[in-house]
Amino acid sequence: MARIALIPGDGVGSEVMTQAVRVLEVLRDAGVDSLAWEEWDLGADRFLRTGTTITDGEFQSLADDYDAILLGALGDPRVPSNEHARDILLGLRFRLDLYVNYRPCRLLHPAISPLKAGGERPMDLRVFRENTEGVYGGMGGSFKKGTPDEVAVQEDLNTRKGVERIIRAAFGYALERGLDRVTMVDKANAMPHVGSLWRRTFQEVSEEFPLQETRTMYVDAMAMDLVRNPDAHQVVVTSNLFGDILSDLAAVLTGGLGIAPSANLHPGRHALFEPVHGSAPDIAGTGTANPMAAILCVGLLMEYLGHEEVGVQLEEVVTEALAGDITTPDLGGGKTTEEVGAWIAGRLAHRIAAPGHSPAAD
Ligand SMILES: NC(=O)c1ccc[n+]([C@@H]2O[C@H](COP(=O)([O-])OP(=O)(O)OC[C@H]3O[C@@H](n4cnc5c(N)ncnc54)[C@H](O)[C@@H]3O)[C@@H](O)[C@H]2O)c1
Repeated sequence: MARIALIPGDGVGSEVMTQAVRVLEVLRDAGVDSLAWEEWDLGADRFLRTGTTITDGEFQSLADDYDAILLGALGDPRVPSNEHARDILLGLRFRLDLYVNYRPCRLLHPAISPLKAGGERPMDLRVFRENTEGVYGGMGGSFKKGTPDEVAVQEDLNTRKGVERIIRAAFGYALERGLDRVTMVDKANAMPHVGSLWRRTFQEVSEEFPLQETRTMYVDAMAMDLVRNPDAHQVVVTSNLFGDILSDLAAVLTGGLGIAPSANLHPGRHALFEPVHGSAPDIAGTGTANPMAAILCVGLLMEYLGHEEVGVQLEEVVTEALAGDITTPDLGGGKTTEEVGAWIAGRLAHRIAAPGHSPAAD
């Protein structure tokens, strides 16, 4: 039995999560795995009602009682400080030590690439972003704040342990999937101390994985390469900040936020799956949020639970939806969140019931 904690959260988070649950229901009812999920009331509503973001007991339960967490999004204009989102999301990331931020960026249909030649050279990239260190550690401070002499320092924290484990995760993934290209991205020319640590560690770890084609690249060159040569890279491993920026760029090149899933992992211990997008207050309540990212998160979750074929199937069904224009307005379609979710769930159920069935025969 796989136990899943569902945190729909705020805004479109709960809207897209409803569609992800439809897909979970299909998988459970088809007996793919004995899945059980419980919904958690964590988010702006609860915070505004009770003043509590998340308790120590809740953190403990999320860590101990579940195989995985599926989260919608957090962030609400009624909480301008964003305190609840920070406590819950960053709290989970740091307390569960979710050091891998895994973001697959695969172009599922040429029509959703913003690049002229995107369809001819489709991107199929996996970004491994270090998720617990770097400039996100909050180290630093200000001096003479608010004066003309103000000084601000933000430290970029990189530990040997932190760098090594994310690089190992990237190589391990590549080896497991039969991929042979791993690229490490840094800015060693401008940041030599951090760059030296990443480059030495990358070199040492790569020697344990002799079959891989390994490269190092500066982040500015990689940003250009993603646009010019979208199919050139397979696995990219990088720091928290560079991974944040590059994976958003890669997400846009493969259809945008509405279709970008992600996983936050401590391999062997904890896993949290969430769409890359936020709570999108500008479209919340309109029924137009794209549920594909949340649904593809279910695919990543199922892969994590050992059902790799389900992840592949879900990608194929989403691809069919894209080909048939079953899309929300962000991808140029006229369907609602509910219509897209229902179509994908129905199609998945159909495929599971009739394996090997070709959509062309419909
Ligand atoms: N992991 C998270 O929970 C997370 C991530 C990013 C932002 N946020 C929070 O979300 C709130 C809004 O942030 P933002 O506007 O910068 O980012 P956002 O991702 O919510 O929205 C950015 C743009 O993308 C669109 N968009 C997002 N998701 C979409 C979807 N599923 N379908 C169609 N369009 C979609 C939005 O309409 C908006 O125009 C803030 O409170 C922010 O802190 C949360």
